[in-house]
Amino acid sequence: MINQRLLPAWILACLTLFIACQSDATQSQEEEVPSLQRAYQDNFFIGTALSARQILGQIPDSLGMIPREFNAITPENVMKWGVIHPEPDSFSFEIPDQYVAYGEQHDMHVVGHTLVWHSQLSPWVKEIQDSATLREVMKNHIEAVAGRYKGRIDGWDVVNEALNEDGTLRKSIFLDLMGPDFIQTAFELAAAADPEAELYYNDYNMCEPAKREGAIALIKQLQANNVKIDGVGLQGHWKLETPTLEEIENSILQFSALGIKVMFTELDITVLPNPWDMTGADVNVKFESGDSIMNPYPGGLPDSVSQQLAARYESIFQLFLKHQDKISRVTFWGVHDGHSWLNGWPIRGRTNYPLLFDRNFQPKEAYHRVMALKATEATAQK
Ligand code: G3I
Repeated sequence: MINQRLLPAWILACLTLFIACQSDATQSQEEEVPSLQRAYQDNFFIGTALSARQILGQIPDSLGMIPREFNAITPENVMKWGVIHPEPDSFSFEIPDQYVAYGEQHDMHVVGHTLVWHSQLSPWVKEIQDSATLREVMKNHIEAVAGRYKGRIDGWDVVNEALNEDGTLRKSIFLDLMGPDFIQTAFELAAAADPEAELYYNDYNMCEPAKREGAIALIKQLQANNVKIDGVGLQGHWKLETPTLEEIENSILQFSALGIKVMFTELDITVLPNPWDMTGADVNVKFESGDSIMNPYPGGLPDSVSQQLAARYESIFQLFLKHQDKISRVTFWGVHDGHSWLNGWPIRGRTNYPLLFDRNFQPKEAYHRVMALKATEATAQK
């Protein structure tokens, strides 16, 4: 017989046990769902960039696919100087705070992007006219931003895009006023503000030999001066044909030979024509169907191009797997095709397809090919 007085406690205990069993079952079911980050968990982080609207939950995360597919995040815009530090004494920490909390909640590798960049810089910084003031402003900025998230950001893109295509230093207010040492200063300030965070140099076209050599020289100089630098970010805004696998491999080998982590930090592959390649073509020329030459696939990607994109991603990830001991993270620049900045650049209002998920959050052929590489690997190991 059950003691009447103990009945509520008894029911509660049964209920608790029932809920625990249910949640165990759900958890193990979730664990079994294949996903990018699970497939590659022994190789490198698989990341994505999050927009302000995603961080704020204004774009529903379809069936929780972001934490399921990705285990690293980068803020696409909300930590850039012009956004986070719009006025000398005013900071916009609200969305960045939520970004960091989101990463922690999902146990993700959290990247900070970016502390010093000539672009998306606040107008008030561009008005500074002397080196001492700019140095002080940079110090305050890095102390305030990197300091606020001390111990909570896993790695910072400390300096972004400081190089020209020929490998020389890009003209910017930082170079103009502080000279080439602005890079070392930024790394030293970041190391002081958050000693545990990894510190990275991040740039695009890093597989082009001249720019790559410039980046290698820059990193060697920092190392020679005992400046902490933990990794290099190769952004990876690539095309269907370029850069070649050979140049990507050369870059992995040459950067990792510096003893630092190699990361692909902003991966996407455009499938649209580049206006600068179309000499003589009028960007406003229309086909009879009304599709622009420059925007050929507004209604969907033809299967032939989808296959090309899939093959390109497959060969790139094959190479990444070959050098997995040197690569710590591969981050896509956006969650799905509809979120990509490439719909708006270099021509506004186009329909591009550069990522692994389509506009309905569904995995594309490219996704399946990247996943299949891991299945093949597992079979080969048996
Ligand atoms: O937030 C404003 C909004 O208030 C305003 O109404 C609207 C009008 O155009 O602009 C919005 O800001 C835009 C911002 O993205 C957020 O959507 C900016 O105009 C636009 O220039 C900005 O573009 C970003 C670009 O960096 C420029 O900084 C892209 O989203 C972002 O994907 C891109 O990311 C960069 C990396 O940080 C560094 N490497 C290259 C990469 C691609 O350019």
